[in-house]
Amino acid sequence: MTWTSLLPVWARALETRRPRPLFIDPFADRFLAAYAGELGTLPQLGVETSPLWEAVFYGVTMRTAYFDAALRRSSAPQIVVLGAGLDTRAYRLGLAPGVTVYEVDRATTLDFKERVLAGEQPTCRRVPVVAELGADDLTGLLKSAGFDHRLPTVWLAEALLFYLTPAQAEALLEEMSGLSAPGSVLLGEVFERPYRETDLPVEAMDDADAATWRQFVTAFRTSPSVPVPAAWLAAHGWTAVEVTDQVGLGRTFGREAPSFYERARDWIFEGRS
Ligand SMILES: C[S@@+](CC[C@H](N)C(=O)[O-])C[C@H]1O[C@@H](n2cnc3c(N)ncnc32)[C@H](O)[C@@H]1O
Repeated sequence: MTWTSLLPVWARALETRRPRPLFIDPFADRFLAAYAGELGTLPQLGVETSPLWEAVFYGVTMRTAYFDAALRRSSAPQIVVLGAGLDTRAYRLGLAPGVTVYEVDRATTLDFKERVLAGEQPTCRRVPVVAELGADDLTGLLKSAGFDHRLPTVWLAEALLFYLTPAQAEALLEEMSGLSAPGSVLLGEVFERPYRETDLPVEAMDDADAATWRQFVTAFRTSPSVPVPAAWLAAHGWTAVEVTDQVGLGRTFGREAPSFYERARDWIFEGRS
C-alpha cells in the first residue's frame, strides 16, 4: 500500500463533503481512517490552500467526474481498471449485476481495500487481479480471472500510465488493443511530459509540501512524454475519440483550473480499438 494510492481518496473525500459535489464516494473517508488507524501516520494531507494540494484536489476531482460519466454511459459487459488503487466504482456507480469489473493492482493495495470494504456489496461483479504491470503477464492473469477477449471491454488507466516507463506504457496500450473486441474503449490519462520542479512554486511552499512535491517529480521522472495524444494512441492500436486535459475538464465541470495544469498538461482521453 503506497501513499500515492491515498491521494485520490483524500481528494474524493474532500469533494464528497462539498455542498454540490461532482460525485459522492461514500468510502473515501473510511479508507483514510483505516490507513491512519492500521498502517501508520497519514502523509501531510489536507492543506487545501497550498498550490500542491490545490492541484492534486482539482486534478483528481475533475478526472473522477469525467471517468464516472464515461463508465455510466458504457454498455460493455466488462471493465478493466488498471492501477485500480482504492477506486470504488464497482460499489458506487450503480453498474449492472451483469457487468464484471476487473480491478488490477498490487497485492498490498488490493488487500487493504478488501479489508476496509469487508461486508460491502458491489452492484456488479468485482474481480480483483493482482499484477505488477510492466512485468507480469497481464493477458494470462486476466484470462485466468475470467476475462473474455471476445466481449467488448472498457479499459480504464486513470493515474497509472505516468508510473510506467514509455516502453511499458506503449506495450500496455498494444496489449489492451490486442485483447479488445470491436466496440471496446480505452479511457486514460497521461502527461504531456514528466513534471519539472519549477511547475509549482517550491519557494512558496512549506517544507513538508516542498518535500512531497519533489517526491512527485522524482516518481514521475521516467513517465512517458506525450505531446500529441492522438498520434501516440494511433501508433499503439487506438483511435482517439476525445482528447481533453485538466484545463478543458474545468470548463466542462464549471471549476477553474489551477495554473499548474497550463504548465504541466495532463491529458485525459478516450480511444476506440
Ligand atoms: C495514484 S494511484 C491511482 C489509483 C486509482 N486509479 C485512482 O485514480 O484512484 C496509482 C495506482 O496504480 C498502482 N500501480 C502503479 N504502478 C503499478 C504497477 N506497475 N503495477 C500495478 N499497479 C501499479 C498503484 O499501486 C496505485 O494503486
